[in-house]
Amino acid sequence: MNITTRLATQADIPACADVHIESCLDIYRPFISAEVHTKTLPDNLNAVWADEQLENGDFIVMAEDAGNTVGIVTVRNQSTPYIDHFHVTPARKSGGIGRLLMRATVTEMLKRGMDHCYLDVADGNDAALAFYKAMGGEIGEFIEGDLFGTPLRAQIIRWSDLLKLNL
Ligand SMILES: CC(C)(COP(=O)(O)OP(=O)(O)OC[C@H]1O[C@@H](n2cnc3c(N)ncnc32)[C@H](O)[C@@H]1OP(=O)(O)O)[C@@H](O)C(=O)NCCC(=O)NCCS
Repeated sequence: MNITTRLATQADIPACADVHIESCLDIYRPFISAEVHTKTLPDNLNAVWADEQLENGDFIVMAEDAGNTVGIVTVRNQSTPYIDHFHVTPARKSGGIGRLLMRATVTEMLKRGMDHCYLDVADGNDAALAFYKAMGGEIGEFIEGDLFGTPLRAQIIRWSDLLKLNL
């Protein structure tokens, strides 16, 4: 494996969108209706990515293999920094790319003075939950959320001190 990581630029947005949409189609099918899966989900995400501007300190770390994007992490620069997307392309899951992305994202956050962060994960996405636990995430409370208009609980995961993480 010769995976590299780097910060995405605005020109990389379409490639990041492709990874995100392919991954969401792959994992969220059990949580939503066929109609939402085939239409609402891709329509919604295409619209979201068309508006992505990477402004105000938001950033995306991307993983590449021979020029192909194989994973993305989007960080929103909020008072508590928020990990908005964390996805590895489906065919490349469980091969260490997520860990590489986590390391690169934490390094970038610390460089920017961000020493804590959080995310939410759909209740039932057990593989991602196990991954975040393995990455030192602290399991938090459930919140009532929604997935492309379908009500769904999600669980908060926090990292309260990124300086102490040992990945
Ligand atoms: C969750 C995700 C980002 C993890 O990335 P990955 O490249 O698959 O994970 P890695 O191979 O780097 O795994 C690192 C560690 O996480 C844990 N882990 C990863 N996948 C796991 C799984 N399916 N079950 C249990 N533990 C898992 C293991 O401890 C693993 O360490 P090991 O390889 O030494 O056993 C990736 O699987 C993914 O994109 N999933 C679909 C999208 C998703 O659910 N994103 C989260 C939305 S909130």
